[in-house]
Amino acid sequence: MTQKVKVCHLQDVPLREMRCVSLSDRNVLVAHTAEGWFVADEMCTHEDARLCDGNLNGTLVKCPLHGSRFDLTTGAVLDDPADEPLNIYQVITEGDIVYVTLDESN
Ligand code: FES
Repeated sequence: MTQKVKVCHLQDVPLREMRCVSLSDRNVLVAHTAEGWFVADEMCTHEDARLCDGNLNGTLVKCPLHGSRFDLTTGAVLDDPADEPLNIYQVITEGDIVYVTLDESN
């Protein structure tokens, strides 16, 4: 079963910025890029670092702890030391609200 969950309002995250947001059962990273909105798991797949404390460059987010970069369009990891991809969510914008769709695979 798929569930649509509200993440934030469009005005909550300025262009080229990102935020960490707490949903009811998980914490996510929300990025507002020139290529669109992206939502991913908040934590780096390497160790305990919140990616919203890192840097956003286009659709690439750089971990603040050891510098691995993740592509928010696919979740792919581009640099060591992280070697696991980031979980990316399907994003829907309706009106001024950003939603993600969650299902059993999330
Ligand atoms: S915690 Fe992110 S690269 Fe190490």
